[in-house]
Amino acid sequence: MKYQAPKGTFDILPYGADEPWKISSLWRYAEETICKTALEYGYHEIRTPIYEQTELFNRGAGESSDIVMKEMFTFLDKAGRSMSLRPEGTSSVMRAFVENNFAQLGNVHKFFYIAPMFRYDRPQSGRYRQHHQFGVEAVGIASPAQDAEVIDLMYETYRRLGLQNLSIELNSVGDMASRLAYKDALQNYLRPYFQELSEDSQTRFDKNPLRILDSKDLKDREILKNAPSILLSLSNDAKVHFDELRRLLDDVQIPYQINDKIVRGLDYYNKTVFEVAAKTGGAQNALGGGGRYDGLIGSFGGPDLPGVGFGTGIERILQTMEAQKVSYPREARPLVLWLPLGNDARRACFNLATECRHRNIPAEIDLHSKKIQNGLQYASRINAEYCAIIGTEELNKKIVQIKNLASRRQEEISLDQAISYFSDRWTSTKE
Ligand code: HAM
Repeated sequence: MKYQAPKGTFDILPYGADEPWKISSLWRYAEETICKTALEYGYHEIRTPIYEQTELFNRGAGESSDIVMKEMFTFLDKAGRSMSLRPEGTSSVMRAFVENNFAQLGNVHKFFYIAPMFRYDRPQSGRYRQHHQFGVEAVGIASPAQDAEVIDLMYETYRRLGLQNLSIELNSVGDMASRLAYKDALQNYLRPYFQELSEDSQTRFDKNPLRILDSKDLKDREILKNAPSILLSLSNDAKVHFDELRRLLDDVQIPYQINDKIVRGLDYYNKTVFEVAAKTGGAQNALGGGGRYDGLIGSFGGPDLPGVGFGTGIERILQTMEAQKVSYPREARPLVLWLPLGNDARRACFNLATECRHRNIPAEIDLHSKKIQNGLQYASRINAEYCAIIGTEELNKKIVQIKNLASRRQEEISLDQAISYFSDRWTSTKE
């Protein structure tokens, strides 16, 4: 039997990947940049299980969301309980928030995570059954300054990763009162077109008409062009919030456009919603999105605290970096490859390589090659700076041949100076 990674998943490899963005050094670079940025903004890392009770996502993401209706990996555990692989992070983090009584520890909490998410969707470029998200959740602050901070953190992360040509689309879906008013206005507008709407939109007409605004169907989009704007139905509170958010974003020069058709695919949003896309991308160019979800914590049995956050797909960030030809620092390379020729030399090289490593000098040992030529080829493949060669003759004379792989210069030094030779060079490369 031939084994394969499940459909819609992929391996992240040290080398030999079929696409450059699947190389593990790039993932580590991006993840380190992301962690550093989030920590600098005062967000703390949180890790939750990759599966939860199915009911959590039904309640959080919402029964009528595509994620819950069509895309969850749901299974019964051995005790017959329905569990689901997490399709998104917000519900899990809020469950952890309530369960661990975070509200007792203070009023404001800011979390971030980098974690795999699972959505059973038709796989295509940029859309996977297992994808990875960088997400943040800021709990406790109702002020639009919190929304602005979250949007700035998202944008700053992209900037630090070298992404350009991004568009931030901003909208407000208002509070419950605004949405009830808008629901009527939208249904009244759409009713004469009902038969022309796509099947999905017809199903949403009664249950969740706002989601029709999200439709990708071309005919639906045509019909929606003249639909009333949700921004005209905002309650006073929601309007003040939105106007202040715009002022704050203007102050710190975050470029955005208002798009009153953005509603997002999850049911927990209210007031602010936003999406970021790379202008150069294909169909799956949504890099990330988020919004405010006041009321979600309360619906999980916690205190009535507000929250706002975003999630951004790491795959899509890395694909955009690749499309925009962003360069990133290469992996740390070994300073030296120890190349033993013969059994006795192997022992000497093993001791020297180990001593280098214990002194934090990146060192490799070639336990395979029997000839200098093969050893040097291996040294260039792993991008070592030096190759240190020891054979029987070198052992007898207590020396080591050192080849600089860039300059091709070779020199001979005494064995007992070898460690200080590399430790000096390692210190100077770091200065
Ligand atoms: P979302 O828009 O469903 O939001 O997902 C966030 C991001 O994850 C998307 O913009 C996209 O980059 C990436 N993504 C989603 N599905 C896939 C997929 N199948 N393959 C590859 N990438 C994908 C959320 O999940 C919310 N929890 C975000 C949030 C946090 N809102 C508030 N706090």
